[in-house]
Amino acid sequence: MQVIEKIKKLKEEKNAVILAHYYVSDEVQAIADYVGDSFYLSKVAVNLTAKVIVFCGVSFMGESAKLLNPDKMVLMPDTEADCAMAHMADPVYITQIKQEYEDLQVVCYINSTAQLKALSDVCVTSANAVDIVRELPGSHILFIPDENLGRYVAKQVPEKQFIFNPGCCPIHAQMKAEEVEKLKKQHPRALVLTHPECREDILSLSDYIGSTSGIIRYAAASDEKEFIICTEAGVAYELGRQDPGKTFYFPETLPVCVDMKKITLEKIADVLENENGQVYVDAGTAAAACRPLRAMLELAEQAANKKEVR
Ligand code: 13P
Ligand code: SF4
Repeated sequence: MQVIEKIKKLKEEKNAVILAHYYVSDEVQAIADYVGDSFYLSKVAVNLTAKVIVFCGVSFMGESAKLLNPDKMVLMPDTEADCAMAHMADPVYITQIKQEYEDLQVVCYINSTAQLKALSDVCVTSANAVDIVRELPGSHILFIPDENLGRYVAKQVPEKQFIFNPGCCPIHAQMKAEEVEKLKKQHPRALVLTHPECREDILSLSDYIGSTSGIIRYAAASDEKEFIICTEAGVAYELGRQDPGKTFYFPETLPVCVDMKKITLEKIADVLENENGQVYVDAGTAAAACRPLRAMLELAEQAANKKEVR
């Protein structure tokens, strides 16, 4: 049996649903029930009726889905697919800083381990970080683990005082401004659309800064025909699918997240068949880590409602 047929059959038998991030390979995006950025996928994860969730992404994503759905079976097609940045903050340092500032809010990018989430007040994604930080009480923010996203948010929310943590996404942080400048010279009409995990020198060259879904929506809504895309190359699949008449250029050193590409159709079929790759979070960590995730969903909704009223 063809692997795609096998996945379809197993999905039905097991009452399973497949979620995938835009950075996984094209063929995996093509068979998923829901494809999106981290914020979209976490919203989808709270409203599912299926019994089994197969999460095509890296471990913090499967872990977040499990935290939001403790009674469901969450399967990771490759348990080795991990996000380097998710581990880039020190619990001891967080505990120390908490003691120094009475009004401190620990803001945790969702790209983090459950252990780091458990020490935090609220989670954010690149799609909602600015809106959520604006809503928080107190004036001091410890932003973990991504320094680049933290600095970007700090610029949009100047009324708060930020403490940054030296973590970053190796894929986004290694993009080179010279390569983007070269592309701008070669394609002077092209707009530069950038993810806020990139360094400041790339952000300063950009026409739009936003999450993965934000970049895709911006390109779709624009009348322009050419774009320079500064994020992981997996978005090319959705960009090309929605706008075949537009052209998308990526930096010459193609930004590829090797961990996201570990997810294959064969591994999806295997976890569905054998129910291996199950995500477990110990009960103590789960209770503490779920709180900031739920706080994110609530605050994001509040912020969206406020925008609608305005
Ligand atoms: P978003 O899904 O929030 O755009 O984040 C990108 C990312 O690096 C996910 O790993
Ligand atoms: Fe982590 Fe970066 Fe890969 Fe996203 S692209 S999973 S932030 S290493």
